[in-house]
Amino acid sequence: MVKAPQLKELLLQSLEHERGGVLIYQTALECVINEDLRKEWEEYLEQTENHVAILTTACEAIGLDPDEMTPGRKVVQHSGKSLVVAMKMALAASDPPAAELVACECVVLAETKDHADWELIGECAKAAEGDVAAALQEAYDQVEDEEDEHLYHTKGWCRELWLKSLGLKAVLPPPEEKKDVKTAMDAAKVEQERKKGKG
Ligand SMILES: [Fe+2]
Ligand SMILES: [Fe+2]
Repeated sequence: MVKAPQLKELLLQSLEHERGGVLIYQTALECVINEDLRKEWEEYLEQTENHVAILTTACEAIGLDPDEMTPGRKVVQHSGKSLVVAMKMALAASDPPAAELVACECVVLAETKDHADWELIGECAKAAEGDVAAALQEAYDQVEDEEDEHLYHTKGWCRELWLKSLGLKAVLPPPEEKKDVKTAMDAAKVEQERKKGKG
């Protein structure tokens, strides 16, 4: 059985993180230069707004107040804001390619927790029972594929834009896009191929 207080903590943190994600994408879109990446992040922003709605519905369905603050949730809020501040700092330095790299890194950091949150929500859906299991599974099924793409594709953009900035061979858009990477295994395969100079 899932421990109810910690499940509540996971859901409230995840919701806070999705809310912060909206602000992170809005700020990242101020930093982006590459038009393909802009389109990608515009789509991810929309999806993230939808994740906020899906998770709010799930919280309400299992009797949680989606606005209840906890110490852990405050930390998540702080982490999200600090990524926004980092991008604003980069923007203020008037070096657009550098700000774009900072935005990529901030999105990768944010999406790493986002991805982990949803993996855990999926585990809780499997272990829970009745209405709780159903609400979590419904939310998870709508979001999971998108989170894979958010993380693995943005990691690809981050790597290739860094390589380009170093004057090294870069593949843009990254192979993760062309190969439609949606699993950790496929992401690792693409990274291996890029190390061998392919991709
Ligand atoms: Fe999300
Ligand atoms: Fe995400």
